[in-house]
Amino acid sequence: MEESFAAQMIAYHEASKHHYRTYAPGPGYLDWATQPDPFRRYAGAQVIPLARPASDDGLPYEAGFMPGLAPVAPLDAASISQLFFDTLALSAWKVAGDDRWALRVNPSSGNLHPTEGYLICGALTGLSDAPLVAHYAPAEHTLEVRARLTPHIWRALREGVALNRGDGLPEETIFIGLTSILWREAWKYGDRAFRYCQHDVGHALGALGIAAAGLGWQARLLDDLGTDQVATLLGVTDPRGAEPEHPDCLVAVFPQSAHFQHWRLPESILDIFRPLGWQGQPNTLSPNRVEWRWAEAAAEIVRKLAGQGSGDRDQETGVREQGTGDRSRETAASLRRIIHQRRSAREMDGLTAIERDAFYRMLLRTMPRAGAAPFAMLPWPPRVHLALFVHRVTGLAPGLYLLARDPAQTDALRAALKPEFAWETMSGCPPELPFYRLASGDTRGIASRISCGQDIAADGCFSLGMLAEFEGPLNAHGAWIYPRLFWECGMIGQVLYLEAEAAGLRGTGIGCFFDDGMHSLLGLKDRRYQSLYHFTVGGPLEDERLTTLPA
Ligand SMILES: Cc1cc2nc3c(=O)[nH]c(=O)nc-3n(C[C@H](O)[C@H](O)[C@H](O)COP(=O)(O)O)c2cc1C
Repeated sequence: MEESFAAQMIAYHEASKHHYRTYAPGPGYLDWATQPDPFRRYAGAQVIPLARPASDDGLPYEAGFMPGLAPVAPLDAASISQLFFDTLALSAWKVAGDDRWALRVNPSSGNLHPTEGYLICGALTGLSDAPLVAHYAPAEHTLEVRARLTPHIWRALREGVALNRGDGLPEETIFIGLTSILWREAWKYGDRAFRYCQHDVGHALGALGIAAAGLGWQARLLDDLGTDQVATLLGVTDPRGAEPEHPDCLVAVFPQSAHFQHWRLPESILDIFRPLGWQGQPNTLSPNRVEWRWAEAAAEIVRKLAGQGSGDRDQETGVREQGTGDRSRETAASLRRIIHQRRSAREMDGLTAIERDAFYRMLLRTMPRAGAAPFAMLPWPPRVHLALFVHRVTGLAPGLYLLARDPAQTDALRAALKPEFAWETMSGCPPELPFYRLASGDTRGIASRISCGQDIAADGCFSLGMLAEFEGPLNAHGAWIYPRLFWECGMIGQVLYLEAEAAGLRGTGIGCFFDDGMHSLLGLKDRRYQSLYHFTVGGPLEDERLTTLPA
């Protein structure tokens, strides 16, 4: 019998693990001659410049997470510019000698940036008289128009198939699409690159949800859509020569106050989109491409059919209430300043500590809360939990801890992990935080060892592994769940990056870790849970050899 797609994805996952003795298959060196261009361009497409907004307008940091704090922005050229500026724009240039490279609002493994962003919208004041599909070009902060739509098509798209009264997306909706160029990442990371592309999509989704909240808008992942449908709507169905662009997802963004029942794409729309006069020729990113067969196979195996929804959570009701509206958590920071100053720490100082209550506030932010950005965007229940290495948290003994992001999973986690773990609750811990001490002790050595020997995992205040429910969702839903587990991890990472900045610290995503080293530390003997992404937060050391220039 042919192996199921889920089984094939589990095989990919195993094949892309780093082990203490061997790394996942990769090039092992950097072939500078074939390094892909980090910027996709559509030569010949009409360009719409976006005005550059201020990166600090004093909007409070909390507005990026709590519904209703930011005033609802009108949907126009200025707000579209702000949305992209706060999600995918350049945030700085780094200079070392003759080398110069751009950093962005969204982080990316190896700074390779496989994620591309698209906009589908109606006619908008100051932007376009006609509805359009456009590609976002971060280097210039412009839109490249790929296709124009008639008002009739736009309306049919937004309203969707109306089965009940109130179905369809609100009038002031825009769609943001994300795609990944696998080769950008595979050039350096080989077969493990497919995972990193998915982390990056998650970071971009997190950035989008937070940026939308800052405009008084909400974002919803439209996960009923199939892969081919997303490709057709974004105009990325052609194989792009040697550098395919994989369609990942489409997100609806609309005012916070608008009501959203249900939206389903009318099939007839696709017949209109396919033959649209798509404008612009995609640039060639690299003179040559090495085929990383496992990574490319993974991108095919996870293709999703239309209507295959995760469907576990009603779009409208959201997840359990988790302390929404707690104003005591507010900080004095400015949302957009934090978004644009976000950066990865290259080294941690091994000294800085964080207060216990500040640490708990960070963890609370990673919990899904009804209506709160960015996790309210996801139509599925939380499937990712945190196994934490606490190094320097004042008021909390060093050791190994666990945060069950879905409290209903606590028993299942307890059954899967080492039986000798203490599962001790902490006095002073907020009641809405299902946080447990598993074992006390100095975990700096093991944290660094598991993170491919990277000291940043030991020299921060804490580091962590993101434990995703794995085999269960894959077998229940299919291979298409696999990237979504990584998206959730990336979103958690994005929240931690911003939380670290807001607390005067710095974070770093850690994609390089020894998967099974982490699993054996936790006593995981099967694939019920897999650690999919690691992260560290601490006091950074600046690299004096680098100069930073504004974006
Ligand atoms: C998915 C992912 C994995 C990463 N893995 C590592 C890692 O293992 N080690 C590391 O030092 N940095 C890691 N980083 C940080 C990137 O190198 C960093 O995001 C990139 O260089 C861009 O810099 P910036 O975050 O300051 O914009 C990772 C980032 C992401 C998003």
